Order: sequence, then C-alpha cells, then structure tokens
Amino acid sequence: MLQNLINGIHHVTAGVAGAQEDVDFFTTIVGQRLAKQTVLMDGPLPIYHLYYTNADADIGSAMTTFPYGKAGIKARRGSGQVKITSYTVPSNSLEFWVEHFQKHHVRHGTIEERFGQRRLTFMHPCGLEFEFVEDDTDTRRGYVTDDVSINEAVKGFHSVTMSVREVEEQNRFITEVLGFQFIGQERNYYQYELKEGGANKTIYVVHEPDLPQGSWGLGAGTIHHVAFAVDTDDELNQVREIVTGLGFTDMSEIKDRYYFHSAYVRSPGGILCEFTTSDIGFTIDEPFEELGQKLHLPPWKLKDSEEIMSQLEPITNPQKPLVK
Ligand SMILES: [Fe+2]
Repeated sequence: MLQNLINGIHHVTAGVAGAQEDVDFFTTIVGQRLAKQTVLMDGPLPIYHLYYTNADADIGSAMTTFPYGKAGIKARRGSGQVKITSYTVPSNSLEFWVEHFQKHHVRHGTIEERFGQRRLTFMHPCGLEFEFVEDDTDTRRGYVTDDVSINEAVKGFHSVTMSVREVEEQNRFITEVLGFQFIGQERNYYQYELKEGGANKTIYVVHEPDLPQGSWGLGAGTIHHVAFAVDTDDELNQVREIVTGLGFTDMSEIKDRYYFHSAYVRSPGGILCEFTTSDIGFTIDEPFEELGQKLHLPPWKLKDSEEIMSQLEPITNPQKPLVK
C-alpha cells in the first residue's frame, strides 16, 4: 500500500483542442497562472504541453494540457476516465463564479451540494467538465487576475471524479493500492480520502454502468490521467516495486519529464494513474516570477527546436511576469 508515500494529487492532464482557446480558458476564465509552456515529451508530434497553477505554482494545483486540435486527434469521453476535475475556491464565491461564467458564455451547472460541500460545474470549450468546491480549510494561494480577486481565486485541486462501469475493483485499487480510505456514498458517488483528507487528498468514483468506454489515448476532449505526488526518486522506485509486486505488471518504466520523474499504471476501471516526484519543479529552467512567459524545450529536444517551433501555432499569454 502506498499510503505513506503518496502526498495527494500532483497534476491532472487533459487533451484539449486549440492551444490559444485553452490558454484563454484557463487564464481568463478559470484564473489560473500559466506557469509552463513546453512540449509533449513522448513521440514525434510537435504538441504544446501547457501547465496552469495557483499563484505559488504549487504541486497539486497544476492542470496540464496537450492541445491536440492541430493534429486533428479527438478522444471520446466515457467511462474509464477522470470525468470531473475539481478545484477548491473560497466559501461564498460560487455566486460570483455563476455570474462570471454567464458573462463569458461558459456552459455551467447550478450550485449544488454533495458530501456536505457546495459545488458548481462548468465546461471547457473542448467538452471537459470541471467543478469548483467551496473549502476554506485549503490555505493555498490563488492567482489573482483583473476579473478574479483573492476572495474567489482558485487555490488548487480538490479532487478528481473517476467514472467506472463497475465500482468493486476500482474501489480495491483506490483503497488497497493507493491507500485512500472509503468515506461514504451519496447516490452513485463514492468518496475516498488520503490521510486527513480534504483538498488535494480526495477521490470520487461515479458509478455509470451504462456509459460506454472512453478513449485511453491522448486526444482532444478527455482527461488522459491523474498524477499522484511522491517526494523523491527513491520513493518513486519504492512505488514501482510495490505496485508491480501487487500484480500490476503493466506499471511503466520511470520516464524523465524534465520537471519531474514519472511512472504510470492503468487502474482496473481504466483510469490511467501516474506517480510523480516533487523535488525538481518548474523553476529548473526559468525564474519563479517569469514562469510560463515563454516556450521551453527539454535539453534532449533542443537540437530539433527550430523544426518544433515552426510547427507549433503561436500563442499569446495574457499574463505578465510577477513583480518581485
Ligand atoms: Fe502527467
């Protein structure tokens, strides 16, 4: 069991459609900080990899996207995927967010309560579903924009909701492998918490027995995986040993993502889970104040930088560097 090695969610990664549409959505609508512009590190396709965080670029706040629209690759939403990605926001801010979404013509739900917390869902233009959960016990610092004050700003992830056709084996994976505890059930939603629970340490499973299987590959319109944070390479090696020893022999080798090291395993419900180190970080190639201002390639892609850059559509980051 990985309970003592995992610290919570590290990042969530999606395939989206257009790069500029994605930048505009996460910076102007959601109010996250564009903290890294880099590229897909697997395979030959020149695709951006964009990271959006809170003010401090904290682990556990990083929504990351691959704009696959240009490559013309779409993915199908369905079961076996993270269906909803949830962020924490301050209490009594959801009325602001309803107005904000109306002003910007963002599709959204109504304010609802589940597991004792007020929530509001909203949609990314490529069809991804997000949710805000009011939670003042989360003390991480939101990024403030012209439109979004600190009284409303997104603090980081609250949870992910995994859609499965059958609950039992996903339940086993979440409790017996990841080490989360089952907390309770409300309608077809199951709640799990790691250690003390709360923001960034919560998983939900939604039971959707009739929902067809969604895509596993990267493409526009789906969450590709959720990553869980460990501290060091040594801990990541321990995770690999434990998970492989439990019979999950499809656990990947360790991959160098430049800002962290990662290994991936497919969970029984179909959702891809990643384990990610936390001791390198986004400031390895640019200062904290200037995070996300320009494109950075990992050292092993630099020899192809001209070709890669010529194939990426130009994007504009509306955010300025932080003032020291
Ligand atoms: Fe990832």
